[in-house]
Amino acid sequence: MASTKSSYATPKWWKEAVVYQIYPSSFQSHPGATSGWGSIKGITSRLSYLKSLGVDVVWSSPIFKSPQADMGYDIADYKQIDHRYGTLEDVDELISELKKRDMKLMMDLVVNHTSNEHPWFLESKSSKDSPKRDWYIWKKPKHINADGTPEPPNNWSQILGEANSTWNYDEETGEFYLALFTPEQPDLNWENPDVRNAIWDVMHFWMRRGAAGFRMDVINLISKVPGYPDAEVTLGEGHKYQPGMKYFVNGPRLHEYLQEMYREVLSKYDTITVGEMPGVSDEKEILRTVGANSGELRMIFIFDLVDIDKPNVRMALKEWDVKEMKSIITKWQKVMQENDGWNSVFIENHDNPRSVSRYADDSDEWRTKGAKLLALMQTTLGGTLFVYQGEEIGIRNAPTSWPIEEFKDIETINYWRKCNELYKNDSDQLAHGRKVIDMKARDHARTPMHWDAAENAGFCDPGVKPWMRVMDDYKTINVEAQMKTNDSEDLSVWQFWQRGLHDRKEHADVFVYGEFQELDPQHPKVYAYTKTSQSGERWLVVLNFSGDEVEWAMPAELKVELWPCSNYVKGHVEKPKKSTIPLQPWEGILGKCK
Ligand code: GLC
Repeated sequence: MASTKSSYATPKWWKEAVVYQIYPSSFQSHPGATSGWGSIKGITSRLSYLKSLGVDVVWSSPIFKSPQADMGYDIADYKQIDHRYGTLEDVDELISELKKRDMKLMMDLVVNHTSNEHPWFLESKSSKDSPKRDWYIWKKPKHINADGTPEPPNNWSQILGEANSTWNYDEETGEFYLALFTPEQPDLNWENPDVRNAIWDVMHFWMRRGAAGFRMDVINLISKVPGYPDAEVTLGEGHKYQPGMKYFVNGPRLHEYLQEMYREVLSKYDTITVGEMPGVSDEKEILRTVGANSGELRMIFIFDLVDIDKPNVRMALKEWDVKEMKSIITKWQKVMQENDGWNSVFIENHDNPRSVSRYADDSDEWRTKGAKLLALMQTTLGGTLFVYQGEEIGIRNAPTSWPIEEFKDIETINYWRKCNELYKNDSDQLAHGRKVIDMKARDHARTPMHWDAAENAGFCDPGVKPWMRVMDDYKTINVEAQMKTNDSEDLSVWQFWQRGLHDRKEHADVFVYGEFQELDPQHPKVYAYTKTSQSGERWLVVLNFSGDEVEWAMPAELKVELWPCSNYVKGHVEKPKKSTIPLQPWEGILGKCK
């Protein structure tokens, strides 16, 4: 470790915990339900499954009362459960069943904005004199255009789909309100202390009810630059509105608010907290939040890896290569261990395409190897590990053959509408737009979970129509088949994850807390690193991120005693113990060093 004073390797339950993210609409419906949506009872029915995988903490995306404009990330009541998911009693039962298994619940806290149907917003909108007017961000038009239409206060584009202005006009009161994501998600005004107190109250409510902590939705957008300046023009012709991230990502009062949150709420409990923080890559800025003594959050989601193919907006493509991927992962492993910070490890969530399709090869030939390669990497990296539902069986992206109507996400819908408005008669541009959807849409992560080979993949009862189409390949890729696999030669993706999570716990001093050291950063295909515990136990991870057979030259000072794990065979793998190591396509191996 960089400094003996560092507490990076000081054990904490929230560092070692394996967190499993559930997208509740698509995880598991319960018997007899006819809605085609997943439910809280459905989640509870799968806790033993999660326990057997090696999960400690369940994080569910929002289950609160919501009109579902953005699948629950638009909350209309923070203390009520959406009828589609169940009741408060169902959550109590979920918490008590988790406790029985020594597991915990992490709630999704969405407090940058509410739903436009939240009573706070309805009151705020009702009149300029409403006591809650200032709970949201209202501004006068910049000016009135010649045609009599009011001009928004600035040129920021709405984030989900970038189709329109982020400002929404209210005829009645003659002012615009700010809603960074969609008009249905008005931003709260964190400058108002009453708003902050109301949020602290919500947090206490859930902690007292038995939650173990929070994943905090876009928590780094809560403080906006005063004056709301126009954004620079970064999107080309035809785009009236522009991404304004610079003016609301890690804004001027962010740390003050997070410290107040810690003081008022989090410091009073033993919590796990993870802040979703898009758009920030500056080490110093991030360490202000996740440094050991920051008094803000335990860890955050850094977006560098999942944004590797993002140019200026999410729904667009950018070339990337393995070297770039390696340098991002290495950077954050090192920053945290050298500066006494803490990080999360994740490559999937409900906002990103499937990892095997994105970072490996999801063809029938290589999918299994690729998914296991990614599992080997993640289970050996430092930080708190987050696994997304379906990742443990290597679910892939929705096929390109699906008609656009199968895509249900508001971002996809807005983006496709924008493409059709801008490029009505340009088939090349439209084909490009469709390609972006095929590669980046959030829908890919939201297809119903594949439990078994029965109709609807066991997600909901036969005869019920799921809210979103089930993947066509669920009969071959599903939990039941992968748990039951009894191949004397090899493990299924699920079994490989289970083993990886088990090994990670057994050797937490190496994999969770050990010192990370990259080898051969210039190699264009192989990602290789060692992990070394404080007592000097050292393991080597070698991952071939390519569909080619490659040879990797091991540094002379390293001596491997045994290769206990590979994504090609069940038990030990026979490989040379020094000098040149041959690797098959997408092969990953784990070595124990002398
Ligand atoms: C976060 C959520 C995403 C949502 C957005 C607005 O990025 O993960 O699903 O659309 O915030 O709440």
